[in-house]
Amino acid sequence: MNKGLFITFEGADGCGKTTQIELLDKHLKSIGKQTLLTREPGAKGLGIKLREILLNYDGEVSPNCESFLFLADRAQHVDCIIKPAIEEGKIILCDRHTDSTVAYQGYGRGLDIERINYLNNIATSGLKPDLTIVFDIDIETSMKRVGKEKDRMESAGTEFFNRVREGYLEISKKEPERVKVINSADSIENIHKQVLELIDKLWQA
Ligand SMILES: Nc1ncnc2c1ncn2[C@@H]1O[C@H](COP(=O)(O)OP(=O)(O)OP(=O)(O)O)[C@@H](O)[C@H]1O
Ligand SMILES: [Mg+2]
Repeated sequence: MNKGLFITFEGADGCGKTTQIELLDKHLKSIGKQTLLTREPGAKGLGIKLREILLNYDGEVSPNCESFLFLADRAQHVDCIIKPAIEEGKIILCDRHTDSTVAYQGYGRGLDIERINYLNNIATSGLKPDLTIVFDIDIETSMKRVGKEKDRMESAGTEFFNRVREGYLEISKKEPERVKVINSADSIENIHKQVLELIDKLWQA
């Protein structure tokens, strides 16, 4: 059996990751592909408990602690869900993964990027996505989309989000083969078309 594909969806809050991942999942299923739609933090089981803390805990959380909680969730996710699905030949569509930690805790909160890369590598046992799509958007538009009900991560302020956005763009410059950027201010349909083009290229490679 062929090994599966691992595709991650990245970008700041409200950029349209979940909208696009669901559209792609629907499309792939409609053409007979086996997919696994999953997310970080908190795909299932223990991860859901970690997600609750990460998004809703209202006491002090040190940046280091926050990183390790995300990494703990990621290790569990990769070992118990993503790797088995790759072995089964599925196409894994993952809403946020390693680049979120680099963008948010690294560029956003100011933790050392090399150290985060090193820790990400331990959490994933070296697994890298075949393709990462970054949905790039200005903060005003994304905050309008998120609306008034913000979680702990979404309440961090405009400067933080500008650093996160720049972080994603830096990541794409460092790894242009893996990381592709789509302008997410476009319509849902046009963005979906661009996502399909990237998937086609991946199959042709
Ligand atoms: N291209 C688009 N144009 C206009 N509205 C959009 C577009 N894409 C998504 N939206 C809307 O913006 C809101 C946020 O989108 P979505 O939940 O997909 O973002 P997200 O990146 O998953 O956010 P989060 O990081 O908070 O999970 C939703 O109400 C969605 O319908
Ligand atoms: Mg989402």
